[in-house]
Amino acid sequence: MPKITYLEHNGKSHTVDVANDLSVMEGAVQNNIPGIDADCGGACACATCHVYIDKKWFDKLPKIEDAEQDMLDMAYEPKQFSRLTCQITVSDDLDGLVVKMPSKQG
Ligand code: FES
Repeated sequence: MPKITYLEHNGKSHTVDVANDLSVMEGAVQNNIPGIDADCGGACACATCHVYIDKKWFDKLPKIEDAEQDMLDMAYEPKQFSRLTCQITVSDDLDGLVVKMPSKQG
């Protein structure tokens, strides 16, 4: 199973196994990782699953769809390498992915 590392804004790190075909958001919720609330349940309608991705990983992820971009525009402090974790599907290619949460998601 791919390993995903979730970094809280305070620097606390959580590395967990996440099954293929779950979203990165679902991997956080199932493992009780703080900072990814996923209020809308993955419908791309809340931005509480917002993270920052390292550039090296950002380029490997599927492209951002319009709906995700619109929601990111409303997220707290979006940056160049922001993504919504509910829109990223886990696969073997993402083994080792690291996502960092914004300060508001603590
Ligand atoms: S869970 Fe709501 S936008 Fe991702």
